[in-house]
Amino acid sequence: MTAPSLTRRHVLDLDDFSAGEILHILDTADAMKEVLAREVPRVPALRGRTVVTAFYEASTRTRVSFELAARALSADCVNLNVALSSTTKGESLLNTVRTLRALGADVIVMRHSQAGAPYLVARYLNICMINAGDGAHAHPTQALLDLYTMRERLGRVERLKVAIIGDIRHSRVARSNLWGLAALGAQVALCGPATLLPRGPELELLPTVALTTHLEEALEGAEVVMPLRLQLERQQSGLLPSLREYRELYQIDGARLARAHPRALVLHPGPMNEGVEISTEVAHGAQSAIESQVTNGVAVRMALLYLYGHGEVSDVRAP
Ligand code: NCD
Repeated sequence: MTAPSLTRRHVLDLDDFSAGEILHILDTADAMKEVLAREVPRVPALRGRTVVTAFYEASTRTRVSFELAARALSADCVNLNVALSSTTKGESLLNTVRTLRALGADVIVMRHSQAGAPYLVARYLNICMINAGDGAHAHPTQALLDLYTMRERLGRVERLKVAIIGDIRHSRVARSNLWGLAALGAQVALCGPATLLPRGPELELLPTVALTTHLEEALEGAEVVMPLRLQLERQQSGLLPSLREYRELYQIDGARLARAHPRALVLHPGPMNEGVEISTEVAHGAQSAIESQVTNGVAVRMALLYLYGHGEVSDVRAP
């Protein structure tokens, strides 16, 4: 396995990652996948290190895969049970992380409903921070595992036609994917009702990204089709006329998938609302790589913990 060559302390978003850095992470994830295929899927790389998962918002796959990744690298892994933590007694986020650091945490994997929360911690505290999703802002590790799955299944990301469909505006997955896909040279169509399409100035920085409200247009020739969950918990009322109408216009079902490239891959970050943004037949059909995404998530998170938690942490200086 190659020595870690990345010098970042944090993984907050992909917006400042070069193509080279992303590809290095994906290559490292290939090596981690080999580790996971062994009879005893464990290496000593992070022995003596402590990874803490601090999830202030619900999660199944992201938290579990980080924990499995940490264990496969022989790190100690502790989950902060936020509902039973001192947060409920009014402790601030920074003080909670200071406490975790004093207890020996080397890496904090954080999910928070407030966009920017991991940035705050990364700015003020001397600890390695991995953003596992902040509000509607960013979810870099999900984007990396999506890129990994595309490359694994389709052989490349460069010039790949990718259609991301649905609630783009509230999706941290879509936002992080946009940066990663753009860095690796994919062509992206973002599709959904006008009220759920993004309006950020960043879009101007991404010339390979197009917006459309017409599903047929987005699907035409698409090699990756990624429907997203409607983020009902982040929506103000009035953005969607009804779920029924959304389903009729934007649900990815077999007939609609047939308009994409014949070997198009279906990805979904999960959790799925089967029967809303995706039909059951497509979700579990031959073109679906949704379960592979989940499996690949462990290897990609191992790669990140390995690269960022190995050797780097002891050298960091307080800002
Ligand atoms: C996503 C998330 O939490 O941002 N899920 C995930 O991490 N795999 C998407 C979602 O919540 O819909």
